[in-house]
Amino acid sequence: MDFRHQIASTDAVAGVAADALLVVTHGEAVDASLDPAIASVLKDALAQGDFQFKAGRTLYVHRPAGLKAARLVVAAAANASVKAFKSAVGSGLAQLKGGGAKHVAVLIGNAGEVTEQHAEAATAAAADAVYQYRRTKPSANSAPALAKLTLLCGKPEARSVQRGLLRGAAVAAGAELARELANLPGNHCTPTYLGEQAKKLGKGHGLKVEVLERKDLEKLGMGSFLAVSQGSVQPPKFIVARYDGAARSQAPIVLVGKGITFDTGGISIKPSAEMDEMKYDMGGAASVFGTLRAVAELKPKLNLVCLIPTCENMPGGRAIKPGDVVTSMSGQTIEILNTDAKGRLILCDALTYAERFKPAVVVDVATLTGACVIALGHHNSGLFTADDALADEMLAASRASLDPLWRMPLDDEYDEVLKSKFADMANVGPRAGGAITAAMFLKRFTGKYRWAHVDIAGTAWKSGAAKGATGRPVALLTHFVLSQAG
Ligand code: BES
Ligand code: MN
Repeated sequence: MDFRHQIASTDAVAGVAADALLVVTHGEAVDASLDPAIASVLKDALAQGDFQFKAGRTLYVHRPAGLKAARLVVAAAANASVKAFKSAVGSGLAQLKGGGAKHVAVLIGNAGEVTEQHAEAATAAAADAVYQYRRTKPSANSAPALAKLTLLCGKPEARSVQRGLLRGAAVAAGAELARELANLPGNHCTPTYLGEQAKKLGKGHGLKVEVLERKDLEKLGMGSFLAVSQGSVQPPKFIVARYDGAARSQAPIVLVGKGITFDTGGISIKPSAEMDEMKYDMGGAASVFGTLRAVAELKPKLNLVCLIPTCENMPGGRAIKPGDVVTSMSGQTIEILNTDAKGRLILCDALTYAERFKPAVVVDVATLTGACVIALGHHNSGLFTADDALADEMLAASRASLDPLWRMPLDDEYDEVLKSKFADMANVGPRAGGAITAAMFLKRFTGKYRWAHVDIAGTAWKSGAAKGATGRPVALLTHFVLSQAG
């Protein structure tokens, strides 16, 4: 999609050449700064009861008198926040969906500053509105789609608006990549496919990409990761992708994404209902791919390393069994009490591998636990870190990107449940606090650097009518990475 800005003072709004003008407004009355043609339609609609200043309400006018644009949509926002603006842009674009408008100009209908954050929010809302999964269903919706969005602003705002649009476009492209990968069925999106996609991304953006094979993983001693993969005919892959934007001497940020391309649960097999959705158990990997794409496009002065352990979790004659003990790359042994808790088994070896980069910080992202969904629902991703300063940086990135994140506890006391009689640790504890137990397990492998874990089991995917991948938390991760450029 094409994102632009256009400088337009109040008296120029009527002449804006776009297929549709989308005016976002909030408050109790028609803003005095509004173009008179729009103001008069709005006043009339209010008087007739056809519009209200209530979040989610929209008004559509075809061939509005006095405006060059052939369509006018007014969308009410709950308040003056950027979050409310984004949601109103979403409602406004939904109103235009399926119609003839290809180019939409967006106007903030209340006098007030148009910021960088508004610009980024508009791109996110637009990208969301136009996304359509087509890969294995090419017939899906071929109607003319929105192709261009112009954000109207004042002259002094133009520079920061343009900056927001650029960042927003990069994040939107990254989120789209993450959605495509996570939506892709497990028989298409295999570990081998992800390896190929990494190479392709690397070629397109000048990144260094290496895909480690089973024999390499054996040499490295990744006994935990290999154990998970052994039940599948699909060979495991370990993807190492680097973006070098600063001197080699600068410690990199390392992102680790869980890449289980399908999770049956293994011998601890999952119930059949909704098992299809476990194709998104590589949502962490998908979001790391998306973030890498966004970062490679924005070219900040920093170094980024992305690590993706990827395999399938299948039952079978060669599969791991409850009670098996494996030796991780760190040398620590693990008793696998439940083969369904295997994300942590592939991540732990990736976290040990991360040590070799002497990272400034490591963040892992994973659709790790159903318990996190129970704790936080589908709105907030779960943040786990013992590092308060890092937590603050992550939460700040969350606020800036409108990608919600909630900090969870990680007290040492929670480690108790991982004790095993047969190994250094078990891979599961009791049901209570399961998302924390999983994080405590990972913590045992991260002593050598600053580390945070993000559980996206509830946020990377939507079930029900809007079933599919969300592209989260690409916006959060991109903002976090950019914030580390100093
Ligand atoms: N992929 C799941 C986590 C998950 C569950 C993601 C629901 C999205 C929605 C993970 O591999 C898993 O199976 N975790 C188990 C762990 C348990 C056995 C300790 C879980 O959460 O049930
Ligand atoms: Mn599982």
